[in-house]
Amino acid sequence: MNKQKRKYEIIGNFDKATSIFAKWTPSKSFREIFNKSVLEILNSLKKKDRINILEVGCGHGTWFGFINQLTFSKKIEYIGIDFSRKRVETAKKFFKKNRNARFLAADYLNYDDVRKYDLIFFIEVFQYLHKNDFSKFLKKAKNMLRKNGYAVIIDKEKYSTHSFKISLGKFLKKLPYYYKHVHYPSFSHLTRLGKTSSFNSVKKIKVNEFNALVMKN
Ligand SMILES: C[S@@+](CC[C@H](N)C(=O)[O-])C[C@H]1O[C@@H](n2cnc3c(N)ncnc32)[C@H](O)[C@@H]1O
Repeated sequence: MNKQKRKYEIIGNFDKATSIFAKWTPSKSFREIFNKSVLEILNSLKKKDRINILEVGCGHGTWFGFINQLTFSKKIEYIGIDFSRKRVETAKKFFKKNRNARFLAADYLNYDDVRKYDLIFFIEVFQYLHKNDFSKFLKKAKNMLRKNGYAVIIDKEKYSTHSFKISLGKFLKKLPYYYKHVHYPSFSHLTRLGKTSSFNSVKKIKVNEFNALVMKN
């Protein structure tokens, strides 16, 4: 399937499954990896007057919900983008009272922004990317970060039991339609790309089936 067709199929599937995903909440392990990467970084930045964050593939805003509970959340200016318009509409409804959060419908590769960010993060987004786009995403993130800013990728590992079970489930047609385009990334490959994209430091964290790659500019 060509890249463009695949992209529109992914958007269509997320639009269609918006109400299913809107009820979803993350597991304990998922929250733990988020705490150990994204929230730890935000805590290290809390003395700043203003913290600018970009979340790519924000879905219905699950992770902004946790960020919003931080004691210093008023200092945070959050932008969440997602190429599923329906998911963005849901996020806007959930967080309509939050003046420090903006949700926009956009494909990251076409997203233009003059702002420089303290943190850019991608949670379960790389599993939907074409492998050839990994380095484009990393380079773009690096260019959008302030000096000493962070990029974080959280996802499941390609070479894992979980990934094997998903591949088997797809092969046996036992999984819902929205799994069709899931292909987990290899974190050793992402680590190499992080280093070749000239991030100053690249660190990997693991909690059960989840991995986080924390890259500092
Ligand atoms: C599995 S969902 C994860 C959503 C959210 N990060 C979470 O953890 O709840 C992946 C999301 O990434 C979005 N996405 C995938 N590729 C994207 C791209 N190139 N630009 C913007 N959004 C993208 C999809 O529309 C989808 O909402």
